[in-house]
Amino acid sequence: VVKVKVPATTANLGPGFDCLGLALSLYNEVEMTPHSSWNLRVIGEGEGSLSTEPDNLVWMSACRLWREAGVQEPVVHITLKNAIPLSRGLGSSSAAIVSGLVAANTFLPTPWTQQELLNLATAIEGHPDNVAPALLGGLVASASDGYIVHAQNLELNSAWAFTVCIPSFTLATSLARQALPSKVSHSDAVFNLGRAVMMTSALRGDDVQLLRFASEDKLHQPYRSKLIPGFHDVCSAALELGAAAVMLSGAGPTVLAVSPHGINQAKLASAMEKAFAEHGISAVAREVKPSLIGAIIQ
Ligand code: HSE
Repeated sequence: VVKVKVPATTANLGPGFDCLGLALSLYNEVEMTPHSSWNLRVIGEGEGSLSTEPDNLVWMSACRLWREAGVQEPVVHITLKNAIPLSRGLGSSSAAIVSGLVAANTFLPTPWTQQELLNLATAIEGHPDNVAPALLGGLVASASDGYIVHAQNLELNSAWAFTVCIPSFTLATSLARQALPSKVSHSDAVFNLGRAVMMTSALRGDDVQLLRFASEDKLHQPYRSKLIPGFHDVCSAALELGAAAVMLSGAGPTVLAVSPHGINQAKLASAMEKAFAEHGISAVAREVKPSLIGAIIQ
């Protein structure tokens, strides 16, 4: 039996649209056991809604690797134990793709390298900023030339604490991408470039004001926040309670608060939930830690 554990991820981190991501301490597990028949079951998040047929994303990703490697797909029983909520901006599809690839890779006579897996995972997902930290762990900057994905682990100061507030409604990344304009102004691009570079430095350091400045974005949040009732009030509630920065997690609707240690995260979490509730949205906020490990074979 092959067991793979893969972390959730938060992408963008404010201005780093499609190029910054962080692995979080919330994990899915995939088990593949050679068997005489094929079967796939889902336990936890997505149980009853995710496909248990061969069009399941974990299985399709595994098959893609076997096909590209020219290897016959094995007959297996697959169990998905999911803790990452679906379509909430926490990288559930990237976790599915990466876990499928890493599990499938163990069946190859000559396993693919991490770089090759990253290139394929990005080709399947369409952008690298969730799959890269899901595979590598930690804080990762990534950019693709269409074939090769360049990914660099960046230093993250342990001074920062992370809270995710997860609304009960889903927002498909494809829909949230449709909300974006096809062109942006030069000044908006410059606005984001400066802050994205600053963000990598702010996360390495412990300067609250710098992190707040660096978290501003003009490329996606202004468009997507309209799809998330209460977004601005949730941000204000978290900032009032001492968060250094608040941003959409990936494409949303989850909101991520980054706070310095010493701030009461339980209070911060309940203020964010309450702000969503005032807009008629039920949400669950929880503390998460950065996951320094990416996908691992257990
Ligand atoms: N960078 C991607 C986006 C992340 O914002 O659409 C999706 O999780």
